[in-house]
Amino acid sequence: LTHRSYNFFIKESNITRLCREKTILTVNGQFPGPAIYARRGDVVVVNVYNQGHTNITLHWHGVNQPRSPWWDGPEYITQCPIQPGNNFTYRIIFSEEEGTLWWHAHTAMDRATVHGAIIIRPRHGTAYPFKKPHKEIPIILGEWWNDDVGKVMADALSTGSDFQPSDANTINGQPGDLLPCSNDSTFRLPVKHGETYMLRIINAALTNGFFFAIAGHCLTVVSSDGSYTKPFTTDYIFIESGQTMTVLLKARRRGHSNARYYVAVRPLATNPAAVLDNSTATAVLEYIDAPSANRANFPTLPSINDSSAAAAYTAQLRSLASKEHPANVPRRVDEHMLVTVAVNEISCAPNEAPCKGPHGNRFASSLNNISFEAPHRDILGAYYRSVVGDVAKTDFPDNPPLSFNFTADNLPPEIALTARGTRVKFLAYGTVVEVVFQGTTILGGDSHPMHLHGFSFYVVGRGIGNFDRHHDPAKYNLVDPPYQNTVSVAKNGWTAIRFRAVNPGVWFMHCHFERHMIWGMETVFIVKNGKRRDAKFLFVGVTKIGYLRKI
Ligand code: C2O
Ligand code: CU
Repeated sequence: LTHRSYNFFIKESNITRLCREKTILTVNGQFPGPAIYARRGDVVVVNVYNQGHTNITLHWHGVNQPRSPWWDGPEYITQCPIQPGNNFTYRIIFSEEEGTLWWHAHTAMDRATVHGAIIIRPRHGTAYPFKKPHKEIPIILGEWWNDDVGKVMADALSTGSDFQPSDANTINGQPGDLLPCSNDSTFRLPVKHGETYMLRIINAALTNGFFFAIAGHCLTVVSSDGSYTKPFTTDYIFIESGQTMTVLLKARRRGHSNARYYVAVRPLATNPAAVLDNSTATAVLEYIDAPSANRANFPTLPSINDSSAAAAYTAQLRSLASKEHPANVPRRVDEHMLVTVAVNEISCAPNEAPCKGPHGNRFASSLNNISFEAPHRDILGAYYRSVVGDVAKTDFPDNPPLSFNFTADNLPPEIALTARGTRVKFLAYGTVVEVVFQGTTILGGDSHPMHLHGFSFYVVGRGIGNFDRHHDPAKYNLVDPPYQNTVSVAKNGWTAIRFRAVNPGVWFMHCHFERHMIWGMETVFIVKNGKRRDAKFLFVGVTKIGYLRKI
């Protein structure tokens, strides 16, 4: 077990993008923030000092935090936020994760600028399940607003209207040379012919899933969300907000003079109204051993509304499912949940004028038609003191209250109305849960990256249209489904996940699009305490083969 510690000073820094200077919240003055390095099995300590002017928490996205929800981070779920002038120490416990994850603020829209990579290498004495690359490079995709993000949120919430879209997408904090005043600062990726690079791609964006490609080069995907995949080679990747994709890039320059190739990122917009025109972010791959820097080639990216290109990419993801990295997919399910995911509206109170949302209402969003309202005290603290009832109702439903054709083209407007509530769900220790997220076309619809804290899950199935509980489960992949912490749910389809509730604690589940989360697209699982049933069997098994002394 290695302990490594980091000091994170949250502070305001001035930074220039798109021709203007702006004050943003940073960690240690860096944007994107510092990377955390660990090996599987490590415990990393992060001391956070809030030297800014607003409350903040940090979250270690994709780290299961076994039996340690105290350090998970979402505000008012597992802790009250760290106030200005205060500090808080997080312990990040890496048990089963290996690969690329990331950390980010889990308060309001702060994660727009407060985020960084988490790089988890194999344990000492073990190796990657592929040839060791020459170099590894974090590639963080994000979004940039010219306005203060706190103001963007406040404006939307005060009028009930949609959030103002970002002004640029970014690669390692830089919009790239297609955008104004961004030419000199474009992110450059220096490579040498013949070497292999591991790109640790993280989608930290608040509202976008992205296509990513590099001109003249294929990418070999080897892991996603901190878990190895069966390697496959592709021209482009699709990465949802919150996900990570680790890819190998073999630097093979074509011809003598080709020294530069564009790296390009384009959002997938199932709801194109929310996307700026000039939305392609760029970086440049540069051969340092090439004679001259000629004009770079541009890669072919799927078009901005090509959701089938996104689905085709995603369908290729499979767990590695090897002897060293087995897949252990639950076959039997104890709790079946069908959860509708929707952007909705709620009516405006007279004191909420001007009310600029849909149909003269406010925008809201929901799971099973409940718009989650954050409590004013953290749910974990209340649970610990056995007073959950003071902050939440424990009756989050297993099914939507209304059943209708969720993916029909023209849904009646009344369908869009939702109700507020802080409703959570208890799970007995060890319960095997299947959640089928059902996308909906309410208000036109959107795709949604659903993220679960405390667990990774197997994505056992997905399909178009309404989930059919009699026929669709027969088509599940229970052999090598991808093991993820964030999964895309199409507006006109469903996605089924399974996990074992063997991590006691209070765990957030939400859409990773920030405005959807702010509008209520989330709930909480409270997993009760219990002993690991499999621990005894593991012990017996190991004794039998004579390794007792090694334990
Ligand atoms: Cu990456 Cu709850 O978030
Ligand atoms: Cu969403």
